[in-house]
Amino acid sequence: MSNILPTVLLQEIACAETKASPCGLVVFGASGDLVRRKLISSVFELYKRDLLNENFYFLGCSRSMFSDQQFRDDAADCIRKCLGDVPPDLLSRFTAKLYYLTGNYDDQSFYKSIASRMTRLEEKHNVSGSRVFYLAVPPMLYETIVKWLDAAGLSCVGRPECEMVRVVIEKPFGRDYQSAAELNQTIQSHFSERQIYRIDHYLGKETVQNILMFRFANAIFEPIWNRNFIDHIQITIAESVGVEHRGGYYDKSGALRDMFQNHMLGMLSLVAMEPPVSFEADHVRDEKVKLLRCIRPLTEQSADTDFVRGQYAAGVIDGASVPGYRQEPNVDAGSTTETFVAARLFVDNWRWQDVPFYLRTGKRLSKKDTEIAITFKKVPHSMFISAGLPELPPNTLVMQIQPREGISLQFQAKRPGSKVCMGTLKLQFSYADVFGGEPPEAYERLLLDCMLGDQTLFTRQDDVEVSWRLIAPILQAWENQTTNLYEYRAGSVSFPQADRLIESDGRKWRKLSET
Ligand SMILES: NC(=O)c1ccc[n+]([C@@H]2O[C@H](COP(=O)([O-])OP(=O)(O)OC[C@H]3O[C@@H](n4cnc5c(N)ncnc54)[C@H](OP(=O)(O)O)[C@@H]3O)[C@@H](O)[C@H]2O)c1
Repeated sequence: MSNILPTVLLQEIACAETKASPCGLVVFGASGDLVRRKLISSVFELYKRDLLNENFYFLGCSRSMFSDQQFRDDAADCIRKCLGDVPPDLLSRFTAKLYYLTGNYDDQSFYKSIASRMTRLEEKHNVSGSRVFYLAVPPMLYETIVKWLDAAGLSCVGRPECEMVRVVIEKPFGRDYQSAAELNQTIQSHFSERQIYRIDHYLGKETVQNILMFRFANAIFEPIWNRNFIDHIQITIAESVGVEHRGGYYDKSGALRDMFQNHMLGMLSLVAMEPPVSFEADHVRDEKVKLLRCIRPLTEQSADTDFVRGQYAAGVIDGASVPGYRQEPNVDAGSTTETFVAARLFVDNWRWQDVPFYLRTGKRLSKKDTEIAITFKKVPHSMFISAGLPELPPNTLVMQIQPREGISLQFQAKRPGSKVCMGTLKLQFSYADVFGGEPPEAYERLLLDCMLGDQTLFTRQDDVEVSWRLIAPILQAWENQTTNLYEYRAGSVSFPQADRLIESDGRKWRKLSET
């Protein structure tokens, strides 16, 4: 039996949504997919919610030829496509703040033009000091752009006001430890760490942020948040989509680099870290990195014993036939890139010793489902044996991140009727039901934080390097092709080798979207 009890908002304790200060947002790669599908509508939403300062401008920069007006018209189309009908007045007031400049990323004169355009726009829109450079371009351009920004005097590094000048770097940040460390070094020679915002959009999702509130604003969970009460933790990011138009990029990356190193380890560190001293950026990030350092080191052998990789073959999803990974556009016909990873990790510290963390992520699975499930230990003894209940299901707390953000707790309770009728009930909180509508797009939160100079949800240099270093032996083993790559049918829930990883410990993967 599963019952859903309504959740009500009793009292709003704190809600400090701070409006951004006057700011100029300069976006490289403004003609690209990310800007057109996500960024531009996220900035518009901030404007609509009155979180963007009136003294604001957006300068798009890329090689494609657009006039300001063409860029504005295109942006308005993208916003309508993402958000449906929007008030035309509001939209035209917003698009009047958009500008565009054409140029080549490796041409120094482009940056001189950007600098002089920014000076004029800052005067026109009454913006002083605060500048955000957003690098929404393929990763091979990151180094070129930061170098030329600095050469044009735009990084402002070394001057007292420079913390008002920020650079946002998209993922992926490197493709292994070496390249990430080198990229860090290059960027840090042009911008200081306080200016660098490495984006991980998963950390901008409401439920992911709520892990901190849930754990550290409630006294009842923290005492049981440890090896004495928790049996194991499962973190799942299941996607029903394939590689879509990103085949070329994905084939050189794979699930371990694309999802595991950043999003999955980011969620693991939030769910398992020690309480930070305060909600200040570096206090939270110190604890995240400390936790990552506690993860039991992996070896190339771990690729066999604690990791499973898979690649999707053709199958059926929602009644429609879909091609296998190797048949996707821009994917090598003999590719050995993994589209699925399952792993078992341990955190070697007093809180988590011997508690397994099972992580899995995959494309073209039967459903879209992102969740963190904390399974508590079973009761030590069932007093209901005589009623045929020698074992009782464990309590499970689920933080659902996609598709419907929320939190649920499963527990046993008496059903009306005979003395020992029992059922599993679910206490459920859904963001949409309590707060109405869907939570804001993660990019909205992250863009606002960046304009406000709050780095809490952005990945720090040491975090990136520790996580790449952790998975280096697995990348190596898979590169050497010393472990199997299993095939699974598109539309599957899982496959036998991935099941074996958890079932050999006497546990089971949760069903997708079980909440
Ligand atoms: N799209 C997403 O949903 C998504 C999600 C997460 C992270 N990201 C990251 O965000 C960044 C941008 O992603 P995107 O999907 O928007 O990329 P994109 O559409 O492939 O590229 C963005 C823009 O960069 C320029 N560009 C592309 N290839 C280039 C090349 N070889 N040389 C010079 N310029 C080039 C193009 O603009 P011009 O030709 O006009 O200069 C293009 O419009 C990437 O780092 C990506 O990994 C994207």
